[in-house]
Amino acid sequence: MKLPCSSTVIIGGLLAGAGSVQGAIQVSWDSTASIKQAASTLAHGMVKYYTGNVTGDVPGNLPAPYYWWEAGAMFSTLIDYWYYTGDTTYNSLVTQAMLWQTGPNADYMPPNQTKTLGNDDQAFWGMAAMSAAEARFPDPPADKPQWLALAQAVFNTQAPRWDTQTCGGGLKWQIFTFNNGYNYKNTISNGCFFNMAARLAKYTGNNTYSEWAEKSWDWTAAVGLMSPDYHFFDGSDDTLNCTQINHIQWTYNAGVYLYGAANMWNVTQDAGDATKAALWKARVTGMLTGLEVFFENKIMKEVACEDNGKCDVDQRSFKAYLSRWMAATTKVAPWTANTILPYLDTSSQAAVGTCKAGADGNQCGLRWSKGAVNDGSMGVGEQMAVLEVVQGRLIGQVQGPVTNSTGGTSKGDSAAGSNADDNPLQFDQITTGDKAGAGILTTLILVALFGGAWWMALK
Ligand SMILES: *[C@@H]1O[C@H](CO)[C@@H](O)[C@H](O)[C@H]1NC(C)=O
Ligand SMILES: *[C@@H]1O[C@H](CO)[C@@H](O)[C@H](O)[C@H]1NC(C)=O
Ligand SMILES: *[C@@H]1O[C@H](CO)[C@@H](O)[C@H](O)[C@H]1NC(C)=O
Ligand SMILES: *[C@@H]1O[C@H](CO)[C@@H](O)[C@H](O)[C@H]1NC(C)=O
Ligand SMILES: *[C@@H]1O[C@H](CO)[C@@H](O)[C@H](O)[C@H]1NC(C)=O
Ligand SMILES: *[C@@H]1O[C@H](CO)[C@@H](O)[C@H](O)[C@H]1NC(C)=O
Repeated sequence: MKLPCSSTVIIGGLLAGAGSVQGAIQVSWDSTASIKQAASTLAHGMVKYYTGNVTGDVPGNLPAPYYWWEAGAMFSTLIDYWYYTGDTTYNSLVTQAMLWQTGPNADYMPPNQTKTLGNDDQAFWGMAAMSAAEARFPDPPADKPQWLALAQAVFNTQAPRWDTQTCGGGLKWQIFTFNNGYNYKNTISNGCFFNMAARLAKYTGNNTYSEWAEKSWDWTAAVGLMSPDYHFFDGSDDTLNCTQINHIQWTYNAGVYLYGAANMWNVTQDAGDATKAALWKARVTGMLTGLEVFFENKIMKEVACEDNGKCDVDQRSFKAYLSRWMAATTKVAPWTANTILPYLDTSSQAAVGTCKAGADGNQCGLRWSKGAVNDGSMGVGEQMAVLEVVQGRLIGQVQGPVTNSTGGTSKGDSAAGSNADDNPLQFDQITTGDKAGAGILTTLILVALFGGAWWMALK
């Protein structure tokens, strides 16, 4: 994730003529075909932004203003799209992009990105590969890196970055010392690592991953990035040894830990470890209550930035990930379904109501809880979020994630990525422009954007 310069924050309302309704999406929620049709329209509306399959463009990249990580997130949504609908329209586009961006060590550290790479950026691609393995998305050609091995490679590059010099552990946000944000230990980087560790534990049955998941969870709690009542905060400055916490809450942090914890329940339950299973069940249950902060009248909302109009390009996609992981949680921890599904029902209904803007009359907006109007904010993130929450309505009709012993076909390599070092393989001179773009210190910008606002006091 990248932090915007405050002057680049685009306030909803500048972008769209929000009037026309001719293409507005209608869904009959009791009809599978109708939900699939809506998902197809939404997916088409999202892929329209992608130019990586145009001759001369680079596969896997989204055009500005979208950062590289969000492209990885988008391909993950398209893997989900195939998983939920069976529609193969985008499969070859996804495979091309996912393989193009692996980098020479097949660990999602491509030289074109290493200069500004954060652990979270890399992990969004790693989690996409993990989803491909779990959903049995068609395996790449045998001479190419395989989905499971790619996820393991991302994990294997990140585990050695666990940093006990400060804060008693944790991953830093940035990988390289020369990047601003290197001194920030953020929750999403650690949450993605936890999420991947838990899913790798489930897929492979290898205990090393569950040990890392436990360690990562315990650290998140101990350092205070998660409260005792399961609220997840943004991060902490490691030059202060994480004694001060930035208390902003984002949907995707809650989501990434939820799905990881649900997987840990599944793993410990299947292993017959009643004590640990009870612990993870209590945590997941607590997290479901904690999630209520993100719902207004049971409609999902990015509380930190929707009402003040300050959601940046990244943040406008975050509801996609909470939607994705809430739906997926009901597969690995089936007892959560009665609590989760009503929230996804109301949210998806509200969300499609915003899809009535743009030239085709069906581009989605950001503020689902404000009635069936497009608030004028449109883009990949808005489109992806509505697509995830709508296609998630099909969760009851699909198989849960497979594992190596329940039909998974993706070939792993537990040593993948471990020969990589954290030196950028090649990078051009950091330009003034790059520095300025990334150049505002985390704390400063967050204080400037959000200082004193009410949600910082939310627990
Ligand atoms: C890129 O892929 C999309 C979706 O499959 C397709 O509609 C479009 O025609 C493709 N563009 C090119 C240049 O191949
Ligand atoms: C890296 O970026 C250059 C310049 O945009 C591009 O030509 C090249 O294809 C990219 N390489 C990869 C592997 O994406
Ligand atoms: C930094 O924080 C960790 C964990 O909270 C603690 O164990 C350690 O003693 C602290 N270091 C200093 C120098 O205060
Ligand atoms: C664990 O997850 C799988 C789906 O991956 C599901 O089929 C199974 O029922 C879950 N285990 C339990 C004990 O619910
Ligand atoms: C996955 O299963 C295959 C075949 O059952 C086995 O050969 C392989 O070692 C397993 N891989 C892991 C990581 O357990
Ligand atoms: C389990 O995973 C760890 C970490 O990647 C690896 O070092 C180890 O070899 C794996 N064990 C087995 C039995 O595959």
